[in-house]
Amino acid sequence: MSVLSGKKILLGITAGIAAYKTASLVRLFIKLGAEVKVIMTPASKDFITPLTLSTLSKNPVHSTFYDKEDAENEMWNNHVDLGLWADYMVVAPATANTMSKMTNGTCDNLLLAVYLSAKCPIYFAPAMDLDMYIHPSTKESLQKLKSFGNTIIPATSGELASGLVGEGRMAEPEDIVSFIENDILSKLPLKGKKLLLTAGPTYEAIDPVRFIGNHSSGKMGFAIAEAAANLGAEVFLISGPSHQKIQHSLVHRVNVISADEMYNAAHKYFKEVDIAILAAAVADYRPKNVATQKIKKTTSALEIELEPTKDILASLGEIKENQFLVGFALETNNELENAKGKLKRKNLDAIILNSLQDKGAGFATDTNKITIIDKDLTEKSFELKSKVEVAKDIINEIVKNIS
Ligand code: CTP
Repeated sequence: MSVLSGKKILLGITAGIAAYKTASLVRLFIKLGAEVKVIMTPASKDFITPLTLSTLSKNPVHSTFYDKEDAENEMWNNHVDLGLWADYMVVAPATANTMSKMTNGTCDNLLLAVYLSAKCPIYFAPAMDLDMYIHPSTKESLQKLKSFGNTIIPATSGELASGLVGEGRMAEPEDIVSFIENDILSKLPLKGKKLLLTAGPTYEAIDPVRFIGNHSSGKMGFAIAEAAANLGAEVFLISGPSHQKIQHSLVHRVNVISADEMYNAAHKYFKEVDIAILAAAVADYRPKNVATQKIKKTTSALEIELEPTKDILASLGEIKENQFLVGFALETNNELENAKGKLKRKNLDAIILNSLQDKGAGFATDTNKITIIDKDLTEKSFELKSKVEVAKDIINEIVKNIS
């Protein structure tokens, strides 16, 4: 999955011949799952039509502060809203004229106003003739734009519209997309970090067909795996039996069944990770003796002797070096006190408390309500949210703690 999937991209098009390539650029962004809105400078419409771009982006294309087409229903194109809407803004092609105006805060068209309002990362793909590209004023514009925190996607060398050959060609749409993807990836807060995660239930065999288990769906753990991978972490997801699916190039799924298998897998990866989050609902007890044949029904009561499983979280707390170790506590009463007790006892850096007294929190739901307690016993409570949003909160808190 691309880092651009689900992202909102504002594409600003200025008046250069390379504008014709922006049709492909819009398509590539859309193919990767991004949402695209296009703003054009008035002059760029000489090079590609707004109709082409609105059809491909599936959104209206704006080039003026208000739409004049319908005289009775003039609509103001709110540059502030557009600027704030975007996760990323891309100016391609970026002409010498527009870049120069942007360095000075000139604001005489919609694109320039949106640029000034945007708070997101902004990429420029310059395109112009070779002498214009190496002109000191263009170099100064590029330098200034960079100093404002923008990113330049360098122009390439090749045949130019003038017939001359040299530097100034806009990077190809595919290269613009991969440049942006790589840039985003390299700046992700968990880039280069490794994370161990346990998720789902464990099943403890009674005989070849029966087991002791619990209702954990694995939803919370899988959502955390995805949230961490989206921020660049390489995730080792050790999952008990779960129907959850995950497809992310940074997530390595290791399937286990019993608490013992989960224990072994967790210890295998723990030494090499920076963060470990134990979200699994591990069975606390298992049958002492597992029958090798199916236990036959009789009329008398059946007793199964249980023995404790190993506490994976506590065992990792004992051997912890620099890892940031996070546990979960699912409580029904004396929640804060119990969670704080577990935090200390198991030598954790943070514990995430779910109270079964909160409606919508716990096992089989799509929502959760958590309180994160850190090592200093500081509590931070969150609203009831979808597990996907809760996962993002958890990962963001960990990022704050380790950076
Ligand atoms: N945990 C674990 N191994 C176990 C049991 C629990 O790693 N054998 C982890 C869970 O993944 C969770 C944390 O320990 O992160 C807390 O689990 P919980 O069941 O709430 O606590 P317990 O320590 O088992 O205590 P109790 O059941 O008495 O509340």
